[in-house]
Amino acid sequence: MKVSAAIEKRRSFRALEKIEVTDDLIKELVNASSLAPSCFNNQPWRYVFVRSPKILDRMKATLKKGNEWAYNGSCIAAVVSKKELDCIIGSTEYYLFDSGIGVGQMILKATEMGIVAHIIAGFDPRKVKKAISLPDDWNVVALIIFGKKAKKKHEISDEDRPERLAPKYVFSIDEYSKKLNKKVKH
Ligand SMILES: Cc1cc2nc3c(=O)[nH]c(=O)nc-3n(C[C@H](O)[C@H](O)[C@H](O)COP(=O)(O)O)c2cc1C
Repeated sequence: MKVSAAIEKRRSFRALEKIEVTDDLIKELVNASSLAPSCFNNQPWRYVFVRSPKILDRMKATLKKGNEWAYNGSCIAAVVSKKELDCIIGSTEYYLFDSGIGVGQMILKATEMGIVAHIIAGFDPRKVKKAISLPDDWNVVALIIFGKKAKKKHEISDEDRPERLAPKYVFSIDEYSKKLNKKVKH
């Protein structure tokens, strides 16, 4: 698949079916991230892939209301990092920026492999740290939920969220400038 095709195809689907998450699959996803650019090649991203049913259940208990669809995920990766792992230039700490680039490459790789990789921020970071025994000085940047786009009728529907279905709504230049003076949705 061409990069441009993966860019067009990737969506944050919520209606998920199970996939088998092998070591090789995880290695391919992590490799796509490792090849991403980062400040001085610091590669500040770290991933904790959770696929054992016991820890997956603990991870699912960290999710905020509205993210119940993620219970069908076959694997959840915690993206973790800390500012000491990357450049700090002036007042800009690059670890979050660079981790985002790494995750961006990973989710495009997943798309190429026919896998949904849905990033979420709706979780309780303290509970995630406890679930994966992550020391307190680390930052849980995001979680990535992995699965396969449901083909059959599913109890969770992507149809009720038209913004999640193609064609995707993309801001115009005017809208980008108007947003400068507006508060963003949280
Ligand atoms: C940092 C971040 C946080 C997100 N948090 C959530 C979330 O908590 N729950 C959810 O269902 N989707 C979440 N999303 C997915 C976005 O809603 C989605 O990417 C956006 O609506 C654009 O749709 P698309 O990914 O299908 O292009 C998040 C995405 C990002 C990048």
